[in-house]
Amino acid sequence: MGLALEYTLHQTALDEDEKEGLIIKSITTRQDLDEFEQQNIELAVDWTLRKRFSIYKILSEKFICKLHKKMFDQTWTWAGEFRKTNKNIGVDKYRIGIELGQLLSDCKYWIENRTFSPDEIAIRLKHRIVKIHPFPNGNGRHSRLLADVLIDHGFNRPVFTWGSQKMESARAIRKEYLQALFKADKEDFKALMEFARR
Ligand SMILES: Nc1ncnc2c1ncn2[C@@H]1O[C@H](COP(=O)(O)OP(=O)(O)OP(=O)(O)O)[C@@H](O)[C@H]1O
Ligand SMILES: [Mg+2]
Repeated sequence: MGLALEYTLHQTALDEDEKEGLIIKSITTRQDLDEFEQQNIELAVDWTLRKRFSIYKILSEKFICKLHKKMFDQTWTWAGEFRKTNKNIGVDKYRIGIELGQLLSDCKYWIENRTFSPDEIAIRLKHRIVKIHPFPNGNGRHSRLLADVLIDHGFNRPVFTWGSQKMESARAIRKEYLQALFKADKEDFKALMEFARR
């Protein structure tokens, strides 16, 4: 039996070769996969809570990939590796490294020059990394945890609430989150910042 996944609002589909990267072959439904991934992500969150990372460590390609690996290493063989195929969202697969490097150096510039508030820097990072879409899957969740790590470890501020409800199950919340992302696409970050702190 294969993996019968339903794709809800704006979730990127997996290619066949990515599905083959599933470590536990007995996972066949979206619900099983969601639960399994959630447990894996909780291990990654525990890891971030046990450690303290500097801003410069967080804003490196190595850390970005390591965080994704920690979030999905029990679920997918390709955890922590950039995608090798193009998607309906994200930059061309050959541009991932370069675009990510540009984003990380922009982010350091914003911090050094106090161009934006700490929240706005973390939210801009979250929005742009999900637009780059470095990984085959998990980019949304990875971008949110990355913003949390930056705001907590980098700025000593409370982590974001991301709308306060589990987005995976609450459709209305997810819709609102996506609307805020679409506004951010047009350089208006207010709605996403407000959503992230509600
Ligand atoms: N137009 C858009 N602009 C910005 N981001 C978008 C847009 N469409 C989708 N996204 C982002 O891409 C994510 C889906 O990517 P992916 O499936 O890799 O992440 P995920 O972690 O599996 O999903 P989720 O964010 O639902 O937990 C969405 O959650 C959203 O964050
Ligand atoms: Mg997904």
